[in-house]
Amino acid sequence: MSKRERLAAKAFEDFAVDYDEQIGRGMARDTGVEYGDFILKFIKLCDSPQECNVLDLATGTASVALALARREDGECRIAAVDITQGMLRQAKRKVEEAGLGKYIYVCNGSGNGLPFVDGSFSLVTCSLAFHHMHVADVLEELKRVLTSHGRLVMADMGAPPAWRKPWGRVIVPFYLMVRRLRDRRPIRSGSKMYTLHEWKSLLSQAGFSTTEEVCFFKGNWRPRLILISAVLSGGDYDQG
Ligand SMILES: C[S@@+](CC[C@H](N)C(=O)[O-])C[C@H]1O[C@@H](n2cnc3c(N)ncnc32)[C@H](O)[C@@H]1O
Repeated sequence: MSKRERLAAKAFEDFAVDYDEQIGRGMARDTGVEYGDFILKFIKLCDSPQECNVLDLATGTASVALALARREDGECRIAAVDITQGMLRQAKRKVEEAGLGKYIYVCNGSGNGLPFVDGSFSLVTCSLAFHHMHVADVLEELKRVLTSHGRLVMADMGAPPAWRKPWGRVIVPFYLMVRRLRDRRPIRSGSKMYTLHEWKSLLSQAGFSTTEEVCFFKGNWRPRLILISAVLSGGDYDQG
């Protein structure tokens, strides 16, 4: 595990049991969107073909995987992958309780090296987790496991454009530190937030074309909720 992965896994190991209760608070405060509504908005962007194979990267407690499995009603198989054992335990428990173990396979794995062969998935979802990863490296790995023209649907808390102004660069580190102290989040997990514009450019550099984007925010200074659906334009990893 890299240092970044170790930090993220440690942070989420401590957080796993309370995750579902805690996660929505910051999102609702910053963007006005409740976590349950967010999941519905997110899966709306997942225009999955019938009988598709889905990878839910950084699944956490499997909320996205469960919502997708319920919507698709047995028409897709979902690999729900995460690096944190505590989160995986919660995910397995929820999947079993929902009786959806036939459709959702919960397993340990990192976005930096996924335990799947090339071209395994027509859809990859990744919600609220990219800021813990080295995005360019993970996008390369996702291209490998996606079929040609496969889709990536991602969501993450992002930076408002104001943070990139010269005065923003000075103030933001202090602003983020105060927020972490207020939210009692002692562990930094090397997280990085991108603006919508930066996201689109990262995706485009990796060979993805954005087809849909949505952004939720309150004011010009708070973090924003960014949702993007993008399709892989190249065919490098086509398995025929
Ligand atoms: C904020 S949670 C998001 C969970 C879920 N996707 C959701 O929307 O509620 C971030 C998750 O990313 C996972 N994670 C962080 N880095 C990862 C990596 N490199 N590979 C796989 N999972 C990772 C953490 O373990 C954690 O469960």
